Amino acid sequence: MNTILINNIEEIKKNIKEWKQENTKIGLVPTMGALHKGHASLIETAKKTCDKVVVSVFVNPIQFGPNEDFDKYPRTIENDLELCKKLGVDIVFAPTPKEMYGENTKLSNTELTFVCPPYNLVDCLCGKARPGHFDGVATVVLKLFNIVKPDYAFFGQKDAQQLFILKKMVKDLNIDLTIVPCPIVRETDGLALSSRNTYLSKEERENALTISKALKEIEKLYNSGTVDTNILFDAGFSILNHNIDLEYLEFRDFETFEKIHTARKNTLVAIAAKSGKTRLIDNIILG
Ligand code: PAF
Repeated sequence: MNTILINNIEEIKKNIKEWKQENTKIGLVPTMGALHKGHASLIETAKKTCDKVVVSVFVNPIQFGPNEDFDKYPRTIENDLELCKKLGVDIVFAPTPKEMYGENTKLSNTELTFVCPPYNLVDCLCGKARPGHFDGVATVVLKLFNIVKPDYAFFGQKDAQQLFILKKMVKDLNIDLTIVPCPIVRETDGLALSSRNTYLSKEERENALTISKALKEIEKLYNSGTVDTNILFDAGFSILNHNIDLEYLEFRDFETFEKIHTARKNTLVAIAAKSGKTRLIDNIILG
């Protein structure tokens, strides 16, 4: 199976045009590369649903804040390509920032057109600590949708807020595709897979394990009948290692994204915390 690497927008558009003429169902898996088993599961789901699969690999500068890890973010295109070949991906689309954003150097909304998701959805959870992040995500994802014209796009449930915002964008902007959410993939000890896990020292990784353990504890208590989110919060918080710097642990309705005080079916329990300097996110949805 031949996987083609394309860096150029006009070139990928030619391939897409041919596929569209043949009525091909196209799946897009947008990534920032440094692919791991979590991405592999998105690609496998895409392969099952679609005739052709495109994986984009682009570390998107406009979704990183000035003091974030854009420069340090792992770039492993050779390995990514290998994995994509193994999984039968048709095209890996890996543009440069210049290819995506042209000669604009400021990459801000003084020069570029941005997609601004609703304020209520960005001024909470990850958006609080990362102002502008979701504008950058929505903008690049819409550009990828316009370039690849997928019928289906696959996103991990780990980025639950991103997933919610992108579904809303698709609905609000009448974008003709289906977003397919895919479950979180974890290491056997519970750590949610993330490209940023490579930043963790052995000790930081050990401490980070208490993040998924806290979520598990909350789920266990909920399943045994506790619905008061203050009690659930305290139970989760007490599990976190004292070296873990909690940013938020929140309970939201996953249909509306409203904060809730009484847990019920479809409650998103979302957490962000730092282990050392590494910011990690994780979540569960209560059943
Ligand atoms: O989740 C990610 O990896 C990124 O936010 C995405 C969706 C590829 C946009 O850059």
